Amino acid sequence: MQFKLDASGELFAKSEVKVLAAYQITSEKKGKTPTTETHYDIKHWKDQTLKEEFTHLIAAKKYKGGKDESLTFTGAMGETVHVIGLGQKTKVKAEDIRKSVARAYKAIKSAKYETIAFDIDGFNALHDTALTAGIIAEAVYLSDYVFDKHQSKKSSLKVLTVAISQFDKKSAAKIEKALASTKNICESINVMKDYVNEAPNFLHSEEYAKRVEADVKANLKGVKIKILNKAQIQKEKMGLFLSVNAGSAYEPRLVHLTYEPTKKTAKTKHIALVGKGITFDTGGYSLKPGPNMAGMKNDMGGSATVYGAFRAAVLEKAPVKITCILAMTDNAVSSLATFPDAIITGRNGKTVEILNTDAEGRLILADAIDYACDQKPDYIIDAATLTGAALVALGNQVCAILGNDQKWINQVLDAAKTQDEYMWQLPIIEEWRTDIKSKVADLKNIGTPMRAGTAIGAAFLEEFVAKDVKWAHLDIAGVVDAQSHLPYCSAHGASGLIVRTLTHLLVHGQH
Ligand code: BES
Ligand code: MN
Ligand code: ZN
Repeated sequence: MQFKLDASGELFAKSEVKVLAAYQITSEKKGKTPTTETHYDIKHWKDQTLKEEFTHLIAAKKYKGGKDESLTFTGAMGETVHVIGLGQKTKVKAEDIRKSVARAYKAIKSAKYETIAFDIDGFNALHDTALTAGIIAEAVYLSDYVFDKHQSKKSSLKVLTVAISQFDKKSAAKIEKALASTKNICESINVMKDYVNEAPNFLHSEEYAKRVEADVKANLKGVKIKILNKAQIQKEKMGLFLSVNAGSAYEPRLVHLTYEPTKKTAKTKHIALVGKGITFDTGGYSLKPGPNMAGMKNDMGGSATVYGAFRAAVLEKAPVKITCILAMTDNAVSSLATFPDAIITGRNGKTVEILNTDAEGRLILADAIDYACDQKPDYIIDAATLTGAALVALGNQVCAILGNDQKWINQVLDAAKTQDEYMWQLPIIEEWRTDIKSKVADLKNIGTPMRAGTAIGAAFLEEFVAKDVKWAHLDIAGVVDAQSHLPYCSAHGASGLIVRTLTHLLVHGQH
C-alpha cells in the first residue's frame, strides 16, 4: 500500500473508490412555533458533479451526516463513492476521523478495491490539512495491518494506492512531511505488533534479541546496540533477572540501545526506556491456571512498546538522547526454576523474598531499571504488562501510569492526550511501600493479595530507581491486546497502543 499526493485531482478522478466527508448542520426555522431541523452539509466538496449526483440520491433524502453515518453510492463513472458522516463540524475531533476512516478503509479493503482517494479538504474540520492528512494516513496504515505469516492461506486483499486529493498546492510540502512521519511511526507500530503477535515457540529470548538486532542494523543508522548474554548478565549481578530465567531452556538477553541526536548540547536531555520482555509467562512454580496462561505470549508487550517508540523516535530524529533497555526471558518451570520462598539479591544489592514466582515482571524490571539508572538518564519510563489488577482497575481500554515525579507523569499524560490514548494515574502511598517489606529479606515481591496490585507492583519498582531520576511506570496489561472498540486496532492480537504516546513524548515533549 502506497500513499500518493494528488494535488491535481488526477488520481481522484480515476480511483475506484472516492472517500468524502459530510457534516451535520442544525438549522432553526423561525415562525410562530420555531423548529429545528438537522441535515447534511457537503458544501466543501470540490467535485461539483459528485455533489450534484449525491443531492439527487433517494438515500440522501434521509442522510444527515451524523457521526459514523456513512452512505455509499455508485458515481456516474461507475466508481464507488463513500461518504463519511462526521457530525457537527465544530465538534469533530482527530479521534473521530481516525475511527471513521479506519472503518471505511476496512470496508473498502474487504470489498476488494485497490485504489482509493480521499477528498482531504472535506475532512479538514481540524483546520490543518497536514495534520488531517497525517491522521487519515495513520488510520489507514494501522487498520491495514494483518498477522498472517503462519496461515497457509494469505489474504489476497491488498489496497495498492491511497491518494490524498483535493488540497491547496501550497500545503503539499507540509502534507508530504506529515505522511513521512506517520509512515515512520506506523511502521514502528507494525514492527511492535509483529513481535507481540509472534508465537512464543518462535519468539523466545534469544530469537527476540536477534530480531531486534537485525531491525536496528537494517533501519536505525547510528544507533548503538549492545546485547548482554547470560554470562554478561551474571557479571552484572542481575540476580533477580536471572532468577526468573532459571527455569528457562533459553538464555536471557538484555538489549541495550543508545541513540544520540546529531545536535547535542549540555542541555540535551537523556531519557531511558525500559521494557518487560517476558516472551511467555507460565507463572513459574506459582503456575498460572490454564485459561489465565493462554495469551501470555503478550507478556513481552512492554519491551515491544518501548522498542517501537524508540524506533519511531530515532526515525523522527528526536532531539533527546535515548537509552532503551529490553529485558528478555520466559518465565518457565523446570527443576532449576526458582522456588517460592527463595531469597535473591538484586543488582542494586537489595534482597527480595520471592513469595510468588508469577510476580516476575517486577523482578526482571528491577535489575533492568537499576542498570538503566547507571546510564545517568534525567528521566526513565518503563512499560510492562505487569499486573492483572490493572485490568480490574481500568479495564482493557485505559493504561495505568504511576511514578515518583508528578511533572514527569503530567508530561506523559499530556502526550497521551495528544494521541487520544487513554491513560490514568494511580497513586503510590506510603502504606503500600510498607506492604512490600519482608520479614526475612529487604523486600518481598508481592503485597497483600487482592489489594492495589498495580500500585504494589509500582512501589516495588520504585525501590530500584536511583534517587535523582524522574521515573514513570506504565502498566499496559490491559491495553496491550484486542481493542474491539477501536476500529484502527486489530480486533485480535496486539493493539499497538502507547507507541504513539511515547513517540510524541520523545520527539515533541517539553522535557
Ligand atoms: N504477566 C502477568 C500480568 C498479566 C495478567 C498481564 C493478565 C496481562 C493479563 C504478571 O506477570 C502476573 O502474573 N502478575 C500477577 C502478580 C501477582 C502474582 C502479584 C497477577 O497480576 O496476578
Ligand atoms: Mn506473571
Ligand atoms: Zn508476567
